[in-house]
Amino acid sequence: MAVNIPTRRLGGIDFDATVLALGCWAFGGAAWGGQEDADSLAAMQAAAEAGINHFDTAQGYGDGRSERLVGDFLQGRRDVFVATKFFVDEPTTAAALAAVETSRERLRMDCIHLFYIHWPRTGVDLRPVMEGLEQARAAGKIAGIGVSNFSPEQMEQVMQVGRIDAHQFCYNMYWRFAEREVIPFCRQHQIGTVTYSSIAQGILTGKFGPQPSFPEGDHRPGTVLFSPEVYPHLYAATEELKALAAETGRDLVQLVIRWTAEQPGIDSVLVGARNAAQVRDNAGAFDGEVPAEVLARMTAISDEAMSHVPDVGNIFRFYP
Ligand SMILES: NC(=O)c1ccc[n+]([C@@H]2O[C@H](COP(=O)([O-])OP(=O)(O)OC[C@H]3O[C@@H](n4cnc5c(N)ncnc54)[C@H](OP(=O)(O)O)[C@@H]3O)[C@@H](O)[C@H]2O)c1
Repeated sequence: MAVNIPTRRLGGIDFDATVLALGCWAFGGAAWGGQEDADSLAAMQAAAEAGINHFDTAQGYGDGRSERLVGDFLQGRRDVFVATKFFVDEPTTAAALAAVETSRERLRMDCIHLFYIHWPRTGVDLRPVMEGLEQARAAGKIAGIGVSNFSPEQMEQVMQVGRIDAHQFCYNMYWRFAEREVIPFCRQHQIGTVTYSSIAQGILTGKFGPQPSFPEGDHRPGTVLFSPEVYPHLYAATEELKALAAETGRDLVQLVIRWTAEQPGIDSVLVGARNAAQVRDNAGAFDGEVPAEVLARMTAISDEAMSHVPDVGNIFRFYP
């Protein structure tokens, strides 16, 4: 059943996209210890039924498998805002144009709503790539251009030759470094903001114990959040959040999504899901009111947890 999820426009893109967005990384299978296509399709169906109309995928998610599944689900329907991303191997205009064609084919879309540069490349000038994306926009093949994991300086460089509509970055109660510079920069330049790993890759559901285990091939044990120096603090904070959720009679993940959406300067909150049940659970975040006092107590728990998290650039320790 559809719930009342607020919508936003990202940058200059003419589409009202729901604040809660479906992350489709796990649909690729790789990096998540395997995934059944039937579960991914059911997750998208549940999202559409719950009124979530913003789906986020990437060329790199299972080497195209996630994009193809999104295309299978959509079958040409136009009521879903589709964002995808490509990784820059070759920083040229031609490579950017070719990447747009790859995604259009896999998604079976004439015009993709939002096309992101997935990661910056250290010391590489990405202006030729931006020029290619502007050409694709002018040709009606993409409606919006996004960047992901960029610093303000990296955004400034590509903005010399094009318009950024959205920036996607890691942001959750245990990873708030974007508050310092990235979010203020986006607000100043009317760039839509999209958070990823918004529930700390599952930690903020409260389902993991003090020593979480994962299927083989799941990338999460290698991330900063699950590292032995950091995770015990996050586990302790999550136990506190769980007690607060129980006191308020709300599901923890719903409170967390709501807290994230309420932070200043946040437009979209991406949450990944493996199946329909998780999507339905997450979609309930926008039911009813959450008192300001509860949000403030959550912030206090987040502040304390953050004091134990090192700012190493990104949760993956990935520096392309
Ligand atoms: N731009 C980038 O560089 C970048 C990087 C990362 C992610 N992203 C995007 O952001 C999206 C979200 O980030 P993410 O997938 O890293 O992390 P996330 O949204 O914080 O966590 C998603 C995972 O949490 C678990 N989960 C979700 N809802 C749940 C529920 N209700 N109950 C229990 N478990 C639940 C699921 O995994 P399990 O069931 O296996 O625990 C799910 O795959 C991705 O799908 C992707 O689209 C982008």
